[in-house]
Amino acid sequence: MTATTPKLNPVELQKLEKDGLAVLEDIYRYAQSGDINEVTESDMNRFKWYGLYHDKPKDGFFMLRVRLPGGIMTADQADAIVHLAETVAPGRVEITTRQTFQLHTIALRDIPTVFETLESVGLSSIEACGDVPRNVVSSPVAGIAADEWIDPRPFFKALDEHFAYNTDYSNLPRKYKVSVAGGGLDATQAPINDLSFTPGRKEIDGEIVLGYNVWVGGGLSHEPHLAQNIDVFVPADLDAVVEIARAITLVYRDFGYREKRNHARLKYLIADWGAERFREEVVNYLGHPLERAATDVPPAVYSGDVVGVFRQKQPNLYWVGLLVPTGRITPAQIREAARLSREYGQSEIRLTHSQNLLLPYIPEARLDALLAEPLLQELQPNGPRIQRTVVACTGLPYCNFATIETKEAAWQLAGALDQKVELDVPLRIHLSACPHSCSQHSIADIGLQGGVIRNPDGSKNKLPATDILLGGALGDDATIGRRVATKVPWSELADRLGNLVTTYQAQRTSPEDQFRHWAKRQTDDQLRVYLGFGEPETEEGVWTEEGSWNKSR
Ligand code: HEM
Ligand code: SF4
Repeated sequence: MTATTPKLNPVELQKLEKDGLAVLEDIYRYAQSGDINEVTESDMNRFKWYGLYHDKPKDGFFMLRVRLPGGIMTADQADAIVHLAETVAPGRVEITTRQTFQLHTIALRDIPTVFETLESVGLSSIEACGDVPRNVVSSPVAGIAADEWIDPRPFFKALDEHFAYNTDYSNLPRKYKVSVAGGGLDATQAPINDLSFTPGRKEIDGEIVLGYNVWVGGGLSHEPHLAQNIDVFVPADLDAVVEIARAITLVYRDFGYREKRNHARLKYLIADWGAERFREEVVNYLGHPLERAATDVPPAVYSGDVVGVFRQKQPNLYWVGLLVPTGRITPAQIREAARLSREYGQSEIRLTHSQNLLLPYIPEARLDALLAEPLLQELQPNGPRIQRTVVACTGLPYCNFATIETKEAAWQLAGALDQKVELDVPLRIHLSACPHSCSQHSIADIGLQGGVIRNPDGSKNKLPATDILLGGALGDDATIGRRVATKVPWSELADRLGNLVTTYQAQRTSPEDQFRHWAKRQTDDQLRVYLGFGEPETEEGVWTEEGSWNKSR
């Protein structure tokens, strides 16, 4: 370090002392002893490079996230997850917003068994957490959506192979998330990833070339940012896509901020540099010029809802999307899904951003038989509209940051709203139990950031409550939701949101006028009135500038 080197945060110093990937042999050593007290604090942090987080209450049991590019897995891989959940990972199995499985309650001594079981079916948890390129996401209907421009599967697989276990990228300033879209029915989550590829086509040397536009600097958490288009087009060629991904990631590695953990994501560098300067640096790293972005692009639509029966682009084939309650799935249900994928499909299962599960490649002639199977009566393809897209973060009892239980609370809330309002369009409600935003609440139609408030009866038991963010969106009109109310008691929420959604339904101009469009036309004060808080300033009280409701004394 020189005198001009900025002061590094403690995690940076740990990473210089020993790379995250180098902790593997220590994990085996710790597992052999089985004594959690032997694990040093810095090694515990490095466990993340192998997809492991110390579950609450930090007494020797772990959460493990699988690396599953694009959320696509085979039936055999699903069976391996079942085996783990029934033997060494007895906690809840969750489908996550980045299209993978998360297992809980793994004892330190059982970690090697978990690694070996995953490896035996070609899976791993490598770099599923940590300051590294994470699981690459895509559309859950990649390669099967009828109106897709490019099949993104070879691209996200190539990126995954390039990034995983590569020491060039094992010490990035912070987590690094990548997405590849195909265009078509359900766009991927390009605006909230650090690096995203979205399809386009342009004329180069007299020929129409299909390829990707490139976006950088999206990310959620405390200060959400939407990705910026850096005005680059690369042809749909595996080497070209990997080459630019490498250059962008190295620029981030070398110039990204390492002073403060909460100011280290790529989004902060992009906010300071702007897209053009970042582009110039990428060109420097590449050593050759880049094409400007394509303007001929497909519409980017994001509904988050691929539950149901949909025709694939392949003739006579369908995918069937199953509704999993806020991503909580039992080992028996996964086993049955694997069996059905073998019997009716092509032994393939997919996981979606809305924490649901898809069975693709179902022949038209077998649809009725599949729909009559017992599993589809439990995880219903025609489940209620709001429950289909409700998303909840891990929350209590597993997450150390959590203030409230999320999965059941969000599921019940969505169910109550489905009872109150019959919607014919998707409405995405996402709940996180702290500002980290693991449920992606900032880009939901209705985003909920849970917390607790004092109990009015004066007792020590705090009550669940939530901030309400409205009008978030992905796709072409990507928007960060506006925080219109804070600390709303959970017990009042179903009624308040019921009023709001009913008002939307009554006021919308057509089914195309979706919740986010309508919310954009309303002022914060209007939205608060629809939430049932009365006029902005009434005899009952007043809204503060921060958005909380002060009752008149
Ligand atoms: C400093 C701590 C953390 C921060 C800042 C953080 C932030 C985030 C953010 C912003 C996402 C959004 C996903 C996306 O970009 O698409 C996410 C995803 C997620 N987070 Fe966290 N998180 C933290 C810790 C945790 C912990 C402790 C848990 C669980 C015990 C957790 C569980 C998840 C899950 C399940 C996802 C879904 C994504 C995946 O599969 O990779 N997070 N996190
Ligand atoms: S949002 Fe907060 S409470 Fe929820 S899983 Fe993420 S870190 Fe935990």
